[in-house]
Amino acid sequence: MSRVFFTSDNHFSHKNIHNFCPTTRPDADWNVMDQKMILQWQNQVRQEDTVYMLGDVFFCDSARAISIMERLPGHKHLVYGNHDKAIRSNATLRGMFESVAEYKEVKVNKQDLVLFHYPIYEWNKMHHGAINLYGHIHNELSEAGGRTVNVCVDSPEMNTGVPYALYSAEDVIAHALKYEIRGHHNKKVL
Ligand SMILES: [Fe+2]
Repeated sequence: MSRVFFTSDNHFSHKNIHNFCPTTRPDADWNVMDQKMILQWQNQVRQEDTVYMLGDVFFCDSARAISIMERLPGHKHLVYGNHDKAIRSNATLRGMFESVAEYKEVKVNKQDLVLFHYPIYEWNKMHHGAINLYGHIHNELSEAGGRTVNVCVDSPEMNTGVPYALYSAEDVIAHALKYEIRGHHNKKVL
């Protein structure tokens, strides 16, 4: 049976990311980081699986990005981050994703999920239990509260100590369901 995974902010080939996130990026050599991140992906994801990537994938030229993409199994869908200009401008690279979008809503295991690179405060069907998955802030957490999950490689809530691991839909949804649904009634009225 095929599975669904989430990840964000891989920052492949980013020379300084180790300094920003030393706990979750144990490899000071960015080339070693790339190789381990690819191997971890290959260990978890099979060709028939689906992976939603919430942006900031590559910090390298398009040729290297294409060669990395060729080594990542699965049906890959991208929600753009602020560092994905190379993907936006290169049709070959963009074509290696089954979809690219600024924002995406999906249903996995009957659960509504709202995918966006940045943490957001309100999202579609939030009051009915929809979960917001986000990236961008790496090893920090959103202050929005409610059913939101940071799915960055560096996520403090999802990271299991296995460097560069992707997060299964089951694990992400189970984690989000520990949080209360944030409703209309705790809003401040000015
Ligand atoms: Fe990022």
